[in-house]
Amino acid sequence: MLVAPSILSADFGNLQKDIEMINNSQADMIHIDIMDGVFVPNISVGIPVVKAVAEIARKPLDVHLMIVNPEKFINTFKELGATWLNVHYEACTHLNRIVHEIHEAGMKAAVTLNPATPVCVLEEILPDLDMVLLMTVNPGFGGQKFIEGSISKVKKLRELIKATGSHAIIEVDGGVTLETGKRLAQAGVDVLVSGNTVFKSQDPIGTIGLLKKL
Ligand code: DX5
Ligand code: ZN
Repeated sequence: MLVAPSILSADFGNLQKDIEMINNSQADMIHIDIMDGVFVPNISVGIPVVKAVAEIARKPLDVHLMIVNPEKFINTFKELGATWLNVHYEACTHLNRIVHEIHEAGMKAAVTLNPATPVCVLEEILPDLDMVLLMTVNPGFGGQKFIEGSISKVKKLRELIKATGSHAIIEVDGGVTLETGKRLAQAGVDVLVSGNTVFKSQDPIGTIGLLKKL
């Protein structure tokens, strides 16, 4: 299992300490949530914070764009050092073009689906994707309750990936705990994003280690 701690739940008053914790853990990537207050009803961090994180991070950056017109910022996030760029299906009119622009910029392309968006909409684009991110809560906030229907959605996506010959891996984001994470692992997930479960734990490094073993 790959694990991507989400710094939305980190201590922004001492972000360096939390990034160093991730550097010293078994985490595989650092998940950074970018919200614009339009696509989602919240605003998180922007370019200067990503730049500061990138300077300290020793794990690949997994950037989750919850913004309208994400195509405007593809090169910006490449220059900031993103390895993975996640754009929402619901925010992209010309998804095929955007996925190719992410690749041309030299990043891994991931497409994110909101909970109500069925996996079948990805059928044509799946062979071009490196990752699909299934939201397992409605995007915008950390610490929300896991949506149970996500387990069967992961299984459907796994079948579609196989049927389309795609090499995309499956990431999930929202409400991931040791309990939901275990069931998600059994359903075929490759990457667990985790905010509150990691950062509200007494032992974040130990919790990352436990998530890795699921
Ligand atoms: C929510 C964000 C998540 C968030 C997950 O919109 O995309 O990455 O940090 O937080 P938890 O793991 O606390 O549900
Ligand atoms: Zn996220």
